[in-house]
Amino acid sequence: MARNATNELLQKAKKSKSDEFYTQLSDIESELQHYKSNFRNKVVYCNCDDPRISNFYNYFALNFKELGLKKLISACYINQERDLFNNVEFERGCFYEYTGAEGEKIKPSSKDIIHFKGDGDFRSAESVKLLMKSDIVVTNPPFSLFREFVAQLVKYDKKFLIIGNVNAITYKEIFKLIKENKAWLGINLGRGISGFIVPEHYELYGTEARIDSSGNRIVSPNNALWLTNLDTLKRHEDIELTKKYFGNEVEYPKYDNYDGINGSIQ
Ligand SMILES: C[S@@+](CC[C@H](N)C(=O)[O-])C[C@H]1O[C@@H](n2cnc3c(N)ncnc32)[C@H](O)[C@@H]1O
Repeated sequence: MARNATNELLQKAKKSKSDEFYTQLSDIESELQHYKSNFRNKVVYCNCDDPRISNFYNYFALNFKELGLKKLISACYINQERDLFNNVEFERGCFYEYTGAEGEKIKPSSKDIIHFKGDGDFRSAESVKLLMKSDIVVTNPPFSLFREFVAQLVKYDKKFLIIGNVNAITYKEIFKLIKENKAWLGINLGRGISGFIVPEHYELYGTEARIDSSGNRIVSPNNALWLTNLDTLKRHEDIELTKKYFGNEVEYPKYDNYDGINGSIQ
């Protein structure tokens, strides 16, 4: 399916607020391998992640020792529809804290988790309390609330590594962060997400749409990216410059509606 057609479908998901695009472990591993040194002795908060099913939770729990994490907190919102994987209806949001202590369960069951009093919205006081005791937020938040999600991270001055739609970088609040060097794209740029796991009732679309060996239904919208304010070695690599702007202005015309040029390598 063409990129703009898949984009349309994601936009539809945004409008209908059906935000159930779950991240694959392989995509998380592929990006996260570049940030390992950032996590030593840190508290990670995955605040849109059901610890029983989230691959973000799985990644950090399984790599807890190697990353040298202090704590992992994973919290999720009330499910308005029946849960994608275990068909249980939850009335409240819930969370789980993993500290890597001897005997502690890596994979919590429903009786190990703690229920919030409320719905577990990332903006709720209960979730913000967990946010305040965390250092780094890593998740794929709801597409429909991306602006608010990032605004909250900025407000509480948190480090983050999150997934967003490519269009998000054109939102004025997000573009401003990038322009001011307060956020940047992830290492894998626009190629960091190969697909999302979706519920049964979602249409499968995208060039690499498939059902994987575990029976997960995967769509490949090809228009998501990682946004972060975590430092990486790549940011400090010298870019080999091949041309000067002055003297070659004709090759770099200004945009009609913006005082800027496209400086990408041609
Ligand atoms: C794009 S999905 C990603 C889920 C998970 N983070 C992952 O990557 O697999 C966004 C998730 O945010 C949840 N969500 C929707 N509104 C929310 C809110 N206000 N607060 C917290 N989570 C919310 C949705 O139920 C959904 O599970």
